[in-house]
Amino acid sequence: MRADPPSPGELDAGERMSPDELTQHQLACLQDTLKRAYDNVPFYRRSFDAAGVTPEDCRSLADLSRFPFTTKADLREHYPFGMFAVPVSDVRRLHASSGTTGLPTVVGYTDRDLSVWADVVARSIRAAGGRPGHKVHISYGYGLFTGGLGAHYGAERAGCTVIPASGGMTARQVRIIQDLRPEIIMVTPSYMLTLLDEFERQGVDPRTTSLEVGIFGAEPWTEEMRREIEERMDIHAVDIYGLSEVIGPGVAQECVETKDGLHIWEDHFYPEVVDPLTDEVMAQGADGELVFTSLTKEALPVIRYRTRDLTRLMPGTARPAFRRMARITGRCDDMIILRGVNLFPSQIEEVVLRTPGVAPHFQIHLSRRGRMDHMTVRVEARPDAPAERRAAAGAEIAAAVKEGVGVSVEVAVVDPESLERSVGKIRRVIDSRNSPKADG
Ligand code: DLL
Repeated sequence: MRADPPSPGELDAGERMSPDELTQHQLACLQDTLKRAYDNVPFYRRSFDAAGVTPEDCRSLADLSRFPFTTKADLREHYPFGMFAVPVSDVRRLHASSGTTGLPTVVGYTDRDLSVWADVVARSIRAAGGRPGHKVHISYGYGLFTGGLGAHYGAERAGCTVIPASGGMTARQVRIIQDLRPEIIMVTPSYMLTLLDEFERQGVDPRTTSLEVGIFGAEPWTEEMRREIEERMDIHAVDIYGLSEVIGPGVAQECVETKDGLHIWEDHFYPEVVDPLTDEVMAQGADGELVFTSLTKEALPVIRYRTRDLTRLMPGTARPAFRRMARITGRCDDMIILRGVNLFPSQIEEVVLRTPGVAPHFQIHLSRRGRMDHMTVRVEARPDAPAERRAAAGAEIAAAVKEGVGVSVEVAVVDPESLERSVGKIRRVIDSRNSPKADG
């Protein structure tokens, strides 16, 4: 059951820094990181030299904008260990991010990196309302993905009791939640929906579980999805953000008492937002691509890493020392260009979740009809929706997308339980426009 959000409790030394202290800390860490990257990673030496900068040119935080960006392609080109700034024998753990195309990217952590990671995830769990003694059920996948193990060590560091469920075996997860009575669940929002359906299938009202808070991330989700989950489960749903190249989960976290975007743990990760087309650094409040420079990482320092995630920066609220980022609405790479109109799957999610009679399960299919792009939204009917509601829901979704996004799409309302369910990060878009059989 959802309790009132707890008061923030005692903040740690980083969270209590004054603006001046934070700036001084960030600059000292940045100068050290640039120097370690330049001295130990041939890629950074070459790229700084090519841009005509040396680490000594960084005298203020604003000077960071003179340094070149780093991309996922750079990490891939130096697969597997070429971007490490320490000997591989000093790396205590490796993770990899799957990557939809080509080689994965491999990331590494020294002992100290692992400790910093546990600290930032512990801080995130505390911001979400987690307290020592709480039980934390972790359904992020354990393995090369950073979600499971990242959450795990953070929850232990926070003084919680960990239930390392990992992803999958959904029926058993429901049983474990019933029997072990965790207060907190950490899981992708799409897998939370799968678990919710399973609770209902087993005849358990999800509002009656011991869960009080869900810490959801690793994929985009919307305010509409927050409402759906909070209502159906009677819990607080908060957003956690991170990416392997920067550390994993725990780069930024929404505070449960405000639910107004994610505070970036800026004492470890320095954010910028840039115009994805011109590369200009944008002012606070403007939308663009999020870029991170690690401030304390040893094994894999990243300088101006282009996340491809789209957001904007805002001043801090519940943690005034740190800036916030808005919920990620999409990635540059997830943007669908349909007959010249740009749209993101999250815009479809908003419409689907507002429409009565359909479940929050949908898929976007892109194909080509003749020379025209065609988009079909397949969305499941709610099990209790009568036939007329199903038909009306399809027309309403198509009209709302036309009105809100400006494109015509086909909507197919399909039977309950007929779309693939998520056990981790969900695949929302199936794009067959460039395959030989794209017509249809
Ligand atoms: O997804 C790390 C993580 C695990 C974060 C568990 C939160 C919880 P990667 O597999 O490297 O790492 O994928 C990183 O996932 O660049 C975003 O596009 C997306 N992403 C992560 N968190 C969010 C979020 C983990 N809260 C990529 N909202 C990132 C939207 C998110 N997108």
